[in-house]
Amino acid sequence: MAEQPKYQSIIVTGGAGFIGSNFVHWVIDNQPDVQVTVLDKLTYAGNLENLADIPQDRFTFVKGDICDAELVDDLFSHADAVVHFAAESHNDNSIADPEPFIKTNVEGTFTLLEAARKHGTRFHHISTDEVYGDLALDDPARFTEDTPYRPSSPYSSSKASSDLLVRAWHRTYGLPITISNCSNNYGPRQHIEKFIPRQITNILCGIRPKLYGDGLNVRDWIHTEDHSSAVWEILAHGALGETYLIGADGEKNNLDVLKAILVAMGEDPDDFDWVRDRPGHDRRYAIDATKLRTQLGWQPQHTDFAKGIEQTIEWYRSNPDWWKDVKEATEAKYAAQGQ
Ligand SMILES: NC(=O)c1ccc[n+]([C@@H]2O[C@H](COP(=O)([O-])OP(=O)(O)OC[C@H]3O[C@@H](n4cnc5c(N)ncnc54)[C@H](O)[C@@H]3O)[C@@H](O)[C@H]2O)c1
Repeated sequence: MAEQPKYQSIIVTGGAGFIGSNFVHWVIDNQPDVQVTVLDKLTYAGNLENLADIPQDRFTFVKGDICDAELVDDLFSHADAVVHFAAESHNDNSIADPEPFIKTNVEGTFTLLEAARKHGTRFHHISTDEVYGDLALDDPARFTEDTPYRPSSPYSSSKASSDLLVRAWHRTYGLPITISNCSNNYGPRQHIEKFIPRQITNILCGIRPKLYGDGLNVRDWIHTEDHSSAVWEILAHGALGETYLIGADGEKNNLDVLKAILVAMGEDPDDFDWVRDRPGHDRRYAIDATKLRTQLGWQPQHTDFAKGIEQTIEWYRSNPDWWKDVKEATEAKYAAQGQ
């Protein structure tokens, strides 16, 4: 039986997006006494379908912008805690047009922090390992909570900025915060502009998958359900003011991930196109999650990547209505960038 939660009414910003909606599902399934309010602007990346099967008596949806100070202030006056996922999240988009990244990721976080300060709201900030820059392929090191910030892209620098704001609001105003920096997520409901769903839906549409650069860039993959359980653990038991890295020892290069997808879908593992690399493409990310595992006792459940990929493929195969309307426009955008 789940323990009585410390926070019974939580706001989830960005809860109609990929990771936010998976977190809402996780909370509804695992924390029966918690009420969830989702605040989401429904940008191109947000989709109400992601929340369609959530029981109405457990959840409220508010369409709005995290930069809207009045709306945010009103919502925070009724909540115990906020888990802040809302962001512009796609690196490639940030290179083409950084402005919305600064607006939502920096100004939006500032707006939420000010409301949290006024109401004394417990604040958990979701961030990324990309704030640490990248590691060399032959470097045995992994990121820890003490790794200096060295973001490479407009996206990662906007996330780094938001992390620093959150830390400062703790140090200066004593706001009860925690921060988590997670590695790359995969699983159901991820927008098809992202690497894994793009390749899966290409194959489902009979389009050859596309691989950036030499394909040797390494990402540290974690199933989104494991990200959700870690965030809950930190919200419930994390030490205030602390940062926790979330990762599940899932380092793989893009070439191996693509070949695994092709094989799982019954295709020739060499049947893909090499395309132009992303400018400033980070080489390797790797997370050392010892602090989360030892201090909070968290363990990932989805440790078999091949099985997780099979389930993810099955989800995209079974839900073509969720993605097929945006497939053409997504590929046209990549084609215009030579990718
Ligand atoms: N995707 C990853 O692998 C990954 C890894 C680590 C951390 N993160 C972080 O997790 C969070 C969620 O990422 P995701 O991949 O689910 O992103 P996503 O792009 O799928 O979803 C973002 C959501 O935020 C909403 N949103 C955007 N701007 C908003 C605004 N101004 N006001 C209100 N809502 C707004 C969108 O409508 C969407 O529903 C982000 O903070 C991201 O930096 C992502």
